[in-house]
Amino acid sequence: MPVVSGSSGRAIGEALAPLLEMKFVALESRRFPDGEGYVRVPYDSIEAVRAEPVVFVSNTYPDSGILETILLLEAIGDVRRGNLSNYKGKEPQSLPDVGKGIYLAIPYYGYSRQDKRFSPGEAISARVIGEMLARCCDGIAILDLHAPAILENLSVPVEFVSAMSEIAERLTENVSPDFILSPDKGAIARATEVANLMGCEFSYLEKTRIDAHTIEHQPKDLDVNGKVVAIVDDMISTGGTICRASDALRRQGATAVHAACTHGLFTAGAISRLANHVDGVHSSDSLPNPRAVVSSAPALARGLRKLLQ
Ligand code: R5P
Repeated sequence: MPVVSGSSGRAIGEALAPLLEMKFVALESRRFPDGEGYVRVPYDSIEAVRAEPVVFVSNTYPDSGILETILLLEAIGDVRRGNLSNYKGKEPQSLPDVGKGIYLAIPYYGYSRQDKRFSPGEAISARVIGEMLARCCDGIAILDLHAPAILENLSVPVEFVSAMSEIAERLTENVSPDFILSPDKGAIARATEVANLMGCEFSYLEKTRIDAHTIEHQPKDLDVNGKVVAIVDDMISTGGTICRASDALRRQGATAVHAACTHGLFTAGAISRLANHVDGVHSSDSLPNPRAVVSSAPALARGLRKLLQ
């Protein structure tokens, strides 16, 4: 059974294949000079893509990742349906349909935070993208989706998986925190899981987002005096949430503060901003980033095994 990927998520695909006892097959994905994308199942990979069900690893981030994901899903689907008709006349032009068997693994699901119509007239982008993807595959495994409810009841099964156990391992081995903090209510379930796995104390903050770059936390007494604290969130983007939470912890006597997340977006300036506020940043490799120290492949493998049962 092959694990395939284009340019998006290739390193994760390569790490995932041995965990699933599958082989990795690289698909072609490049850009034309005008920036438009080109994808192809290479001729010598057509047999592998048809022989057995396929796991396709791809991120829906940035926007070019969404397009690459959809175009490659279509290309894989055509190959599996046996639709090889081509302008150059390369044979065979058609083969028998080999049926269902395309499983999409998404390390980072872009647009996950646009999961509600916050103001009238908005697109619920997370749902729109999910429905587009579901039309072209037979199952999806998604790593630490911001709010899974938005993808419930898609037309294909979805496995929501989490890298929190791997993040707990990382923190145990490298930080030994006394206390785990969720920087907002949305991260409570994930941060609690880490705290429980590590046997640490836990609390959370209540956050109000003023705009994309500004957040406020409601003041709260935290029992962190003299303690090492790890803040656990699903993603870090500007770093604003973590920096504000860290300031609150230090004001209350925390001796060291670390940040851990699954998705390290680290938008412009975030890494240096964080360096001024926390003692360490630990991210999974769901997105390539300079703080990627936790593999996302084991969590995705757990979800894919369930889908492939
Ligand atoms: C939002 O609820 C997420 O869980 C993160 O807390 C948020 O996206 C982090 O964004 P930033 O790093 O820009 O504060």
